[in-house]
Parts: sequence; C-alpha cells; structure tokens
Amino acid sequence: MSSDAFTGPRRHHARTDSTNERARELALLGAPSGTVVTAGEQTAGRGRRGRRWSAPPDGALLCSFILRPLEAHHALLPLAVPLAVCEAAEALAAVACKVKWPNDVWLGERKLAGVLIEARPPGWAVLGIGMNLAVPEDAFPADLRWPAASLGHGVGTEQALAALRESLGGWVAAEPSAVASAFASRDALRGRSVSWEGGGGATGSGTGTAAGIDERGNLVVETDAGLVSLGSGEVSLRLE
Ligand code: BTN
Repeated sequence: MSSDAFTGPRRHHARTDSTNERARELALLGAPSGTVVTAGEQTAGRGRRGRRWSAPPDGALLCSFILRPLEAHHALLPLAVPLAVCEAAEALAAVACKVKWPNDVWLGERKLAGVLIEARPPGWAVLGIGMNLAVPEDAFPADLRWPAASLGHGVGTEQALAALRESLGGWVAAEPSAVASAFASRDALRGRSVSWEGGGGATGSGTGTAAGIDERGNLVVETDAGLVSLGSGEVSLRLE
C-alpha cells in the first residue's frame, strides 16, 4: 500500500470555533497536504448534516488534516478515514472498533469518534476528526443521537494524534478495493434493520436490512421491493 504523508506542519489552538474552519482557511491559502490543525477546545465544533460536535476542553482529540489534491484513488475517502481512526484507537487501547456507515467509529454500540470531510474537489479536502479520549459520562450532551464512548485508559491527545498520523497515511492512499474490503470487516450495520428518510429519486424513505456497500461507497439496503443504494449526503439513517 502506498502512503499519503500526514506528517506536515501543525497549527494548534487552545480554543477555536472549529478546526475544520481553521484548516479550510489554510487550504484556501495553499497550505500543503498533511498540514494539521488541532484544538484543545472548540466553541462551534461541526458535525455531519449541520449538527454540532461538542467535547469538554482537552477531553478529545480534535483535529483537521488537509489533503491535496484529490485523486481517483480517494473515491472512498469517507470510508477510509474512519478505518484509520479504528486502527489508531486499537493501537492506543485494548479495544475493537467498528464503523457505522458512513463514517462513525463505534466501540460496542456507542460512538467513539466522528468524521466530517469538507472538500473542494479536485483541489483539496479537510478531514475533520473528533475522538473522545477522557470524557466523563456526564460531560456528554444529553441530546446526542447516539450514546457516546470514550477511549479512556489515560490516553492523551498527543499520543492519539501520533497514532492517527501513523494510520491515516496508509488508509487515505489505499486503493478503493482495499478500503471496501476493510470496511466490510468492520461494518457495524450489516445484517441490521435500518430505516431512512430523505433519499432522492426512487428511494424516498423506507426500511430494510443493511447489506454492505457498493463500489461508490453507498449503503446497500435489502427491502421488500429489492436492493436500494443510499448516498451518505442524501439520507438520514436510523437503526431500528
Ligand atoms: C459527526 O460525527 O457528525 C462528525 C463530527 C466531526 C467532529 C470533528 S472535531 C474536529 C473537526 N472540527 C470540527 O468542527 N468538526 C470536526
């Protein structure tokens, strides 16, 4: 497997609104691939689908990497990044992680990490990652969609960043076929009942059984009417 290096320059903020926002500004200014922005605390952390992401100060790894340029082999980037997060978490603690499509990292049935990719193809992408490290149970917001998990075991943010830098390069550079087969072995949804809303075209909304991903990284769901392919940007997915 070749490797995109994620050992570039680092900009750390004790407190900022969003590391993705800081990284986006740097990307627009031409910062090199592999540049990383970290923060001890975010005041307006962004999650997928316009949601917020919150973590107590210094309780989570909050980081955003610049990747440039985007190339054909990055087709499954949204699935490759959580695989790298799984590998990093497993190097830091005795845990086994799964990926809930498209890119949540789960410990058991709880969310350990989230990924938000914001891109201006083919120029660049910002890979935003939030991984809970030492977050007390009562510090998580009460209204989370998924119960949250924390890595614990005394893992610090510097150690976590080093592990992530190590794993990210290989997975971001990996061929889509390698990403798809690794995703299959960590797929938290396969065989489970799901329902969705908001899909365009024929999908609309519905329920079915998750059956893996297709070559575009879309979620395949078996329904009474046949197979449906759901794009991550289009649907809101629930486990039944
Ligand atoms: C999600 O699960 O909805 C994605 C969460 C992504 C959160 C990270 S924290 C670091 C980076 N900066 C942000 O504002 N968001 C991402």
